[in-house]
Amino acid sequence: MTHDENRSAFDWETRFIDDDTPWERGGLHPAFKAWRDQAAFATGERVLIPGCGRSPELLALAQAGLTVTGADLSATAISWQREVLREANQSADLVTGDVLDWAPDQPLDLVYEQTFLCAIHPRLRTRYEQALSRWLRSGGRLYALFMQKPERGGPPFDCSLDAMRILFPAERWVWPDDGEIRVWPHPQLNDKAELGAVLTRR
Ligand SMILES: C[S@@+](CC[C@H](N)C(=O)[O-])C[C@H]1O[C@@H](n2cnc3c(N)ncnc32)[C@H](O)[C@@H]1O
Repeated sequence: MTHDENRSAFDWETRFIDDDTPWERGGLHPAFKAWRDQAAFATGERVLIPGCGRSPELLALAQAGLTVTGADLSATAISWQREVLREANQSADLVTGDVLDWAPDQPLDLVYEQTFLCAIHPRLRTRYEQALSRWLRSGGRLYALFMQKPERGGPPFDCSLDAMRILFPAERWVWPDDGEIRVWPHPQLNDKAELGAVLTRR
């Protein structure tokens, strides 16, 4: 199977061209704001946003002084990010293409994962976890928002906690205590719950 065949058949580019993007909250994710308020993101840290789309968190991380890479299949979304950065006089590396084929020059300090894992086909998940394991330095953090969706199919595809614990095994990832995993309803997606968790690469 080629990488193209391996991607979700979903036409992301057309969704951005048509401005048909119900996954967008219209502002910073409240989990992102909570993590930022806890000083989770430090100046100079290297961060990737896989499948960044038009996520406003990309600009916020650049403004916080991090070295940001955003990657997306959609040229329209990447152009949007480029313009937002230009207007704010900020910079980031922007990559148009399949992030699963991407590799950093140096290991990353963190990855901000927001409605990307639920967007890719579940058969790509193992490849994604392996890429995350390679990209992050030991002690690096994955800020994850796991979409909870009882119905079958997708995107978004369900990312149940049981499945996530299997996908991100304890040999490679330190999980937070259950009490630190917070629920964030998504108002644009029928209040579907997203579970916010910070996993640390061993
Ligand atoms: C549900 S959207 C989320 C966008 C953004 N993270 C946000 O929260 O607004 C999923 C994004 O992943 C991108 N995407 C899907 N598969 C991808 C891949 N293999 N490589 C890079 N981007 C991909 C899509 O183009 C889309 O922008």
